[in-house]
Amino acid sequence: MIKQAIIPLAGLGTRLLPLTSVFAKELLPINGKPGIEYILDECIEAGIKEVIFIISKKKLMIKKYFYNDKFYKDIIKRKKDPRIINEYKKILKYKKMIKFVFQDKPLGTGDAVLKTKKFIKGKFFLMLLPDDLIVKQNCSKAMITLHKKFKSSVMASMKVKEKEVSRWGIYNIKEKISTKNFIIKGVIEKPSIKQAPSNNAVIGRYILPKKIFNKLLKLKPGKDGEIHITDAIQSLINDNNKFIGHNFSGKYLDCGTMNGYINSTLEIAKIWKFVWLALDTLG
Ligand code: UTP
Repeated sequence: MIKQAIIPLAGLGTRLLPLTSVFAKELLPINGKPGIEYILDECIEAGIKEVIFIISKKKLMIKKYFYNDKFYKDIIKRKKDPRIINEYKKILKYKKMIKFVFQDKPLGTGDAVLKTKKFIKGKFFLMLLPDDLIVKQNCSKAMITLHKKFKSSVMASMKVKEKEVSRWGIYNIKEKISTKNFIIKGVIEKPSIKQAPSNNAVIGRYILPKKIFNKLLKLKPGKDGEIHITDAIQSLINDNNKFIGHNFSGKYLDCGTMNGYINSTLEIAKIWKFVWLALDTLG
């Protein structure tokens, strides 16, 4: 059973400058709720019991968000506001399941993952990249079900426009297992249109084997001088480890770019407007 998830949060967030010059992008509100809480709710619903946050000194604000107890206790004592009491209870629930580890320098996603090595207990763990929100369906839950069936690694995927392949990890298919699931032949980090073997992109949800840490330890920096998780995955595939690409059913929202972030806030507001209207009709 997969009970642990890791969330790399130590990147610089340059695509969301100037906001990220002083603010952690994962705390930016999407319809009044920080993006990271959507990710945590997805984990909880998927049965995850422990989440490891990889942060840096520049991202200490994220730890503070969950560790502001004295502030909450003082305010609650003075105001006794039920809304604040409820919000604090929610924060406490999240805090109980979060562990923090540090990546001092943003040397790449692979290097970030390596920082969790000594904390991973099971043979497999879940990784979520918080820039990628998937709403309407719980992608992690569907991937864990798939993992149980095939006992293999799984990566979320979707088709992207050919001219946009260089933004993603791109994989090609070895074998189709069903309409939405494929055995992966190989994966390449942010290829040019010419290099790209397909337009199947890896989206930020992964079920990875613990043995990926040994690969990461041996890996040399790849594209742009960073250590990429994609390169470690390719090395595992070369050793005949099975990776399944899962075309998820939910709606993908990109929160890592300014246009994507603005669009995500609009899309989630639309979903909530629909919920409020439905509740209103029911009286
Ligand atoms: P990205 O490279 O896509 O995003 O990392 P970024 O670095 O945060 O932002 P840009 O590209 O400068 O706009 C994907 C995920 O991996 C984390 C990031 O925080 C993000 O959640 N990451 C990236 C790390 O934790 N450490 C790194 O060294 C690099």
